[in-house]
Amino acid sequence: MMTPLNRLLQTKFPIIQAGMIWCSGWELAAAVSNAGGLGTIGAGSMYPEQLEWQLKQLRAALKTEAAAQNRPYAVNLPLLYPQVDDHLRLIEAYQVPVVICSAGSPSKYTARLKDSGCKVLHVVSSTRFAVKAQEAGVDAVIAEGFEAGGHNGREETTTLCLVPAVRQAIDLPLVAAGGIGSGAAIAAALALGADGVQIGSLYAATTESSAHQAFKERIAAAIEGDTRLALKDLTPVRLLDNDFARQVHQAEREGVGPQSLAEILGRGRAKKGMFEGDMVEGELEIGQVSAMIQEIVPAGPLTKSLWEDCLRTLKKLTALTPLT
Ligand SMILES: Cc1cc2nc3c(=O)[nH]c(=O)nc-3n(C[C@H](O)[C@H](O)[C@H](O)COP(=O)(O)O)c2cc1C
Repeated sequence: MMTPLNRLLQTKFPIIQAGMIWCSGWELAAAVSNAGGLGTIGAGSMYPEQLEWQLKQLRAALKTEAAAQNRPYAVNLPLLYPQVDDHLRLIEAYQVPVVICSAGSPSKYTARLKDSGCKVLHVVSSTRFAVKAQEAGVDAVIAEGFEAGGHNGREETTTLCLVPAVRQAIDLPLVAAGGIGSGAAIAAALALGADGVQIGSLYAATTESSAHQAFKERIAAAIEGDTRLALKDLTPVRLLDNDFARQVHQAEREGVGPQSLAEILGRGRAKKGMFEGDMVEGELEIGQVSAMIQEIVPAGPLTKSLWEDCLRTLKKLTALTPLT
C-alpha cells in the first residue's frame, strides 16, 4: 500500500522510527530502514563528531544489508540544542535524505535544508504550528499528541483530537505520532487522515535501541498511569515514575517557578537515566503506550509485524462494511 508518505520518503511502509535522545543510534535506524520503514538517528544527544561517526556506521549498514539499493534514513534535529549549526553542516556534507526537525521554529532552517536536497519533516503539537510549518515549506508535518514520550506540547491535545484537526488545516502529507502501539493504532491514524505514523516508545524498548538495558526492562514493566506530563512551566516532558519524577511533581504541586524546576532537573539527567541506567534519579522519558509494551523485541521484525497487523485490521474493518 502506498500513501503520500511512503511515496515522499520512498520507503516500503509509512512507518517512521522516531528520533530519540540516548535511544536511537545507527543500529536502531539501520534495523528499521532495512526492514522497510524510515530509521532515524536522534542527533539531540550527540556531539558533532559522534553524529558523524553514527552517519558513517549507518550508511555502511544500509549498503551491506540492502541488496539492491540504499535505503532511505533520517536524522532528527531538535532545534533547541547549541550544536545545531555543526549538525546542519554534517547533514549537508553527508547528503542525508530526510531531516526531522523538532522543538523550534520551522521558518529557521527549512529553506536551507531543502536547498541542500533534504526532505524536511517538522514535528508540531498544535494546529497553529502545523500551518506555520506548511507556510515555511516543509514536505510533511508530524502531529504529535499528548500521549507521546519525550518533549510534549503545552496544549495537551491528544493524538485522536490533533490529527483530524491538523488534517483539516493543511494539505501536506501528515504523520501521526503519540500513542501508536499496534497495527490497529496505525489503521486508526490512517482513518483520522494521517498518511503514516511516527513511533518512539515502542522502538526505545527494542534490542537495537541504544538505551540502557535497565531502562528497556523498566519500560517493559510499566503499567497504566506510570507516566505523567511534567515540567510544563519549563519544557514539558512525559516522565516515567521514579524518585526524580516524584520530586518534580511534588515541587510543581508546591507551585515552584521555572528556575527552581531547572535546578531540580540539573544537567545530564536524561543521560543518567536512559543511557547510564539510573532508574531512581535519572530522567526517564517514555509515552503512555509503554503500558502496552511487555518485552524487548528486535526492531526489524517489529516494524514488519506492525504493518502486517495494520493491513489485517484494515481488512477486518472493510469486511464489516456492507457491499450495497
Ligand atoms: C526516550 C524518548 C526520547 C525522545 N527524544 C526525542 C528527541 O530527541 N527529539 C524529538 O524530536 N523527539 C523525541 N522524542 C519523541 C519522539 O520523537 C516521538 O515523536 C514520540 O515518541 C512518539 O510518541 P510515542 O512515544 O507514543 O510513540 C522522544 C521520545 C522518547 C520516548
